[in-house]
Amino acid sequence: MSKILIVTGSMGLIGSEVSEYFLEKGWTVHGVDNNQREIFFGTQGDNTKNKNRLSKYGNKYIHHYMDIRNRTGLLSLISVIKPDAVVHTAAQPSHDKAASIPYDDFDTNAVGTFNLLESLRRYSTEVPFVHFSTSKVYGDAPNLIKMKELDERYDYDDERYVNGIPETFTIDQSLHSLFGASKVSADISVQEYGRYFNMPTVCLRGGCLTGPNHAGVELHGFLNYLIKCNVEEKEYNLFGYKGKQVRDNIHSYDVASFIDEFLKSPRVAEVYNIGGGKENSISILESFKLIESITGKKMKYNYVDESRVGDHICYYSDLTKIKSHYPNWKLTKSTVDIFTDIYNHYNNGTKWKTRLQNDIYNGISSYHFYVFLHKNVNLLICWPLGIMRPFKFFRGFEDYDELPPLRDWRRIQDGLEVFERFDREQTIRPLRLFGGRFSRVNYELDLDEEE
Ligand SMILES: NC(=O)c1ccc[n+]([C@@H]2O[C@H](COP(=O)([O-])OP(=O)(O)OC[C@H]3O[C@@H](n4cnc5c(N)ncnc54)[C@H](O)[C@@H]3O)[C@@H](O)[C@H]2O)c1
Repeated sequence: MSKILIVTGSMGLIGSEVSEYFLEKGWTVHGVDNNQREIFFGTQGDNTKNKNRLSKYGNKYIHHYMDIRNRTGLLSLISVIKPDAVVHTAAQPSHDKAASIPYDDFDTNAVGTFNLLESLRRYSTEVPFVHFSTSKVYGDAPNLIKMKELDERYDYDDERYVNGIPETFTIDQSLHSLFGASKVSADISVQEYGRYFNMPTVCLRGGCLTGPNHAGVELHGFLNYLIKCNVEEKEYNLFGYKGKQVRDNIHSYDVASFIDEFLKSPRVAEVYNIGGGKENSISILESFKLIESITGKKMKYNYVDESRVGDHICYYSDLTKIKSHYPNWKLTKSTVDIFTDIYNHYNNGTKWKTRLQNDIYNGISSYHFYVFLHKNVNLLICWPLGIMRPFKFFRGFEDYDELPPLRDWRRIQDGLEVFERFDREQTIRPLRLFGGRFSRVNYELDLDEEE
């Protein structure tokens, strides 16, 4: 029997990466996520794509559109699922957003975490619980460290922090933002369940957790959003500190691989800072330069001479403790890797055929088909899931490599539209032969892009 993992926030950046990582290892994953990110941040925060990505694992991935504020729902879910581990990533994740939705923020971050802890304890005190905390639990206290101003970044000017901020740093008596405060509450509760009930819990205080699957918005997911602005040539608002503020970035894959190590030998009531550490730290100005060198596009930005409330001037995680407890764990993605990966996701770096193949494989369920219409020959193409090469072209092209250039194709916004305008027999029958039923398809490709 495969092991069972519950991942809350499984539609999010970290949750979807963790789900995929363990699905690849043969676990069964139950995802708990109501796509609240879309409610928090609007359509740009919609995480449906990530959920679709997981559909390729069939019934190994089971999704529950449940809100973690639903206490009774969680109690029964955990007692029925009987997980071997729980990874809790669901959150209101934005420092800046929290003040405008204080109840939602606290109820999700503090109470939602508490609901999970208590539901798990009632089921078993042996099951590991991995909680995503944040560097914002340290409030703005890191800003009190003596800093030096360099040409393009700030850095600590204090020997005690030469490797970054350790877990022993105070979380007390500083400005946190309401987000930081709700996360402190969750962090302390997770530690308490560990200490008091001897449960294998861990708080991972994240620096900047990032990767291509973040639905980056201005208020959360800074690196993803910054790269998106560069690629789309949109103006980026740079808030304060002359753009020299420093963050440490870690790829979501490296976060997932740490959880793997932790679950192999869990500890009780642990706390780790997790991020890119000093080696993957970068300022905003340096980030501009790096992305410009990758895309060849000048970064457009608007400097706002006011920093975000409680924003860190310089933050990077001291990884000494986490690495010493789990020596097999290593960062595999450098800053350049991370930037390139996110950039590729925004399309320009990947050949469209490769993307198409990946998206076909990742994005649709077994009853969905992609439909494209050729402007000249009225050609309909469809791919059933799991078949990496086009299964059948109805007329014209027999082989994938014979596809005409993408600019010759018109995107069909809604595949059903096709049936209004074309011979139903000709289109629907072959689809039925493949055992599928037709369903709506929206596919986003940059049609101007050349192979
Ligand atoms: N991304 C970062 O830079 C970063 C840094 C430090 C800490 N963290 C922490 O890591 C965790 C994961 O962050 P992320 O970047 O993947 O965030 P994300 O917003 O991409 O994912 C969070 C997911 O939780 C879901 N969610 C939110 N509220 C919910 C609710 N009430 N019920 C059910 N689902 C709900 C959202 O729909 C979303 O899919 C969070 O706890 C966050 O605070 C993230």
